[in-house]
Amino acid sequence: MKQSEYLKILNMSKRTLEEYLNWGESEVPNVASDKEPMTKKQSVIKKDIQGKFSKNTLGSKEKLEVLKKKIDFCVDCPLGKSRLNAVIGVGSPNADLMFVGEGPGFDEDHKGEPFVGKAGQLLTKIIEAMGFTRETVYIANIVKCHPMIDPANPEKRSNDRPPTSIEMETCRHYLDKQIEIIKPKIIVALGASSTKGLSYTEETISKIRGIIKEYNGIKLMPTYHPAALLRNPNLKKSVWNDMKRVMRYLSTGEI
Ligand code: URA
Repeated sequence: MKQSEYLKILNMSKRTLEEYLNWGESEVPNVASDKEPMTKKQSVIKKDIQGKFSKNTLGSKEKLEVLKKKIDFCVDCPLGKSRLNAVIGVGSPNADLMFVGEGPGFDEDHKGEPFVGKAGQLLTKIIEAMGFTRETVYIANIVKCHPMIDPANPEKRSNDRPPTSIEMETCRHYLDKQIEIIKPKIIVALGASSTKGLSYTEETISKIRGIIKEYNGIKLMPTYHPAALLRNPNLKKSVWNDMKRVMRYLSTGEI
């Protein structure tokens, strides 16, 4: 067995055990694959999660935690089988400002947190220049698992690819739930994949950036992905102009 496969199994087992312990289980029941029916214990956990959501007895933080547990087990598309960690999101559960990128890369897959690599460090600088921190905004991706060129090799660098339309559609309901819980005033779509997924457009990002749209009734600002700024620093000015309009909207309600 390859070392990466071995590490992945170890990681998954550890996560599974922690999740079940969190839910008051003393042992790990068989984890159902997408073909196997759920065990009784798993369906009790699922009902518990659904019950808490439907009774609306949880605050935004708890709702996001429950959602995280659900996504950690998700294998609705092949990305769920190759990822090391599901990357759900980071930041304030009540943020006014939400950033949505395309999907976790190598660093994010290893850390389980969005935008922690080089592009992420630039995003953090942009957020701080806007007067926020990573803790006061919310950062997520349109897909929660690492899209890889070679899914058998999660330990390989430069193995990232954009998510397919099918992967984005399969995962969309998780982002929709995050948006419903957090209720941001404005969403910034970072890059072509996120913009395509959130505004259902085939236009290129250079044509559509800076043009305000709506997603689920919330203002949407499409802009360049920080990775594009690393490749071409000339794009920074446009992104900063877009972010200034976002700041104005947050402080005056005008865009
Ligand atoms: N690029 C993204 O779009 N999302 C991440 O989380 C990291 C890099």
